[in-house]
Amino acid sequence: MNKTILITGTSSGIGKAAAKFFHEQGWNVIATMRTPEKETELTQLDRTLVTRLDVTDPDSIHNSVLEGIAKFGRIDVLVNNAGYGAFGPLEAFPMEKIRRQFDTNVIGLLEVTKAVIPHMRQNKAGTILNVSSVGGRMAFPLGALYHGTKFAVEGISEALQFEFAACGIKVKVIEPGGIKTDFSGRSFDFTNDDSIEEYQQTVSAVQNAFSSLTDVNAAPAVEVAEVMLKAINDDSNELRYPAAGGAETFLEHRTSNDDPAYFAGTKAMFGLT
Ligand SMILES: NC(=O)c1ccc[n+]([C@@H]2O[C@H](COP(=O)([O-])OP(=O)(O)OC[C@H]3O[C@@H](n4cnc5c(N)ncnc54)[C@H](OP(=O)(O)O)[C@@H]3O)[C@@H](O)[C@H]2O)c1
Repeated sequence: MNKTILITGTSSGIGKAAAKFFHEQGWNVIATMRTPEKETELTQLDRTLVTRLDVTDPDSIHNSVLEGIAKFGRIDVLVNNAGYGAFGPLEAFPMEKIRRQFDTNVIGLLEVTKAVIPHMRQNKAGTILNVSSVGGRMAFPLGALYHGTKFAVEGISEALQFEFAACGIKVKVIEPGGIKTDFSGRSFDFTNDDSIEEYQQTVSAVQNAFSSLTDVNAAPAVEVAEVMLKAINDDSNELRYPAAGGAETFLEHRTSNDDPAYFAGTKAMFGLT
């Protein structure tokens, strides 16, 4: 029997590449997105249900899960992929934007997981892949919110792999490096308040660094999907899977330096004094 995967955020980038990749591998795909009416590619595929799921809208989450199970009989793998990056000085952010970042990247992930778990628990089987980032284990300047969400995803995943083991459910973390997607476009929410002078040197440095880093050496999104398949098929207790785009090099740089050395190296990289 074909296995079935439910993926959030399949309108673009890593989510879309994963939907296409798992379809090619013979899986049934529940390809969820906020605006399925705009989708023209995934809707052409057989064994693929394109359905509306906004991770901040509980009804859409429950409807998608029910619809997916009704169509394919079961969900073997959940990929919590939907997310975006809020960057900028904390003081510049209205609370509403701060909440939106955590509601999407953290609370949304928890809510989708909660919706799928009873089904997997009943099946005594299932795998949950949480898409974190190398930014879930190391932080860059002006990324308090984004890194805060991804560090949260790491901690949530580490705790849940203990909890769900009792139900026969595996939890794995996928940590992409620099991947060619629309993340630096549609998913990059930069907020600044140029009246606060103290932060402007960092703002310029970070904006320059991000624009010069964008897409340089970035890997195709399908490489992340390949790592997802490897993680699903891995019966070891490995939790974290660095996934393309220099992820291993980034993480090696973080783990091989103590905090002061990492901070100094990162400031130098951003040209900060
Ligand atoms: N690209 C990278 O270099 C990189 C590196 C590390 C980690 N990541 C992580 O990879 C994941 C996917 O990002 P990407 O690079 O593929 O960027 P992307 O191409 O911009 O895709 C982001 C996806 O998330 C969806 N999304 C945003 N808010 C949502 C919500 N409330 N409900 C449902 N879907 C929502 C977007 O849907 P809409 O089309 O509706 O906006 C889009 O499908 C994110 O979690 C990101 O943090 C990316």
